[in-house]
Amino acid sequence: MSAEAAKIVAGQIYLKPDSVLGLATGSTPLKMYETLVAVHETIGLDFSRVTTFNLDEYIGLSADNPQSYHYFMHENFFRHINIKPENIFIPDGTAENVGAEGLKYDRLIRSKGGIDLQILGIGQNAHIGFNEPDIKFEATTHKVKLDDETIKANSRFFSNVDEVPKYAISMGIKTIMLARRVVLLANGKNKSAAVYKAICGSVTPEAPASILQLHQDVTIILDRQAAADLPKKIVDVPITEIL
Ligand code: PGA
Repeated sequence: MSAEAAKIVAGQIYLKPDSVLGLATGSTPLKMYETLVAVHETIGLDFSRVTTFNLDEYIGLSADNPQSYHYFMHENFFRHINIKPENIFIPDGTAENVGAEGLKYDRLIRSKGGIDLQILGIGQNAHIGFNEPDIKFEATTHKVKLDDETIKANSRFFSNVDEVPKYAISMGIKTIMLARRVVLLANGKNKSAAVYKAICGSVTPEAPASILQLHQDVTIILDRQAAADLPKKIVDVPITEIL
């Protein structure tokens, strides 16, 4: 999964050196970042003209907090490659006015020409970014109250569940849907129900990833466990054909 995802990202940068990438945090893309760092170190994949926009950040955590997504991205990716600091964008979790920060973030994405390739993970509740199941889709970058399920899932990164922030700032569904290409990654049995809802369920804000069924160019890369609930006819397509 990670090797295929890294190939797509590297291909994107070779074809368009000034690509705008949308990036995700969490366990899922870690190995993809590691692979891209290796490609940078071994054959010089050049990030000097690349711009990145991350999906989300916890509200209340500053960039130097080891649990923040700023810190995660720096530690796991940015400090290992030749991206320019001024080309890295992550929503500011310490912004006083989160609404204004959201508007600014969407405007900034537009001003850079929009996202060429957006990498997504998926939550066990089928969230993308921190767009939690809801009765409506939130369009633009906005403040989110995290679901109890998300807080519990993410507590593995904190010393206890009470330390997990209750709010986040996340790209909205429209922000994500405006990306020219989307690559969603999922691995592990605990993602299989969400993956099923995303691919085979109704398009509904109660399973936010299902909106991707309406996107013009989505690639979904799964391991066998995350694909376990999908109909056999989808899973048995040879990988070369899917890609
Ligand atoms: P994970 O998170 O990669 O840590 O499982 C994915 C997500 O919540 O979107």
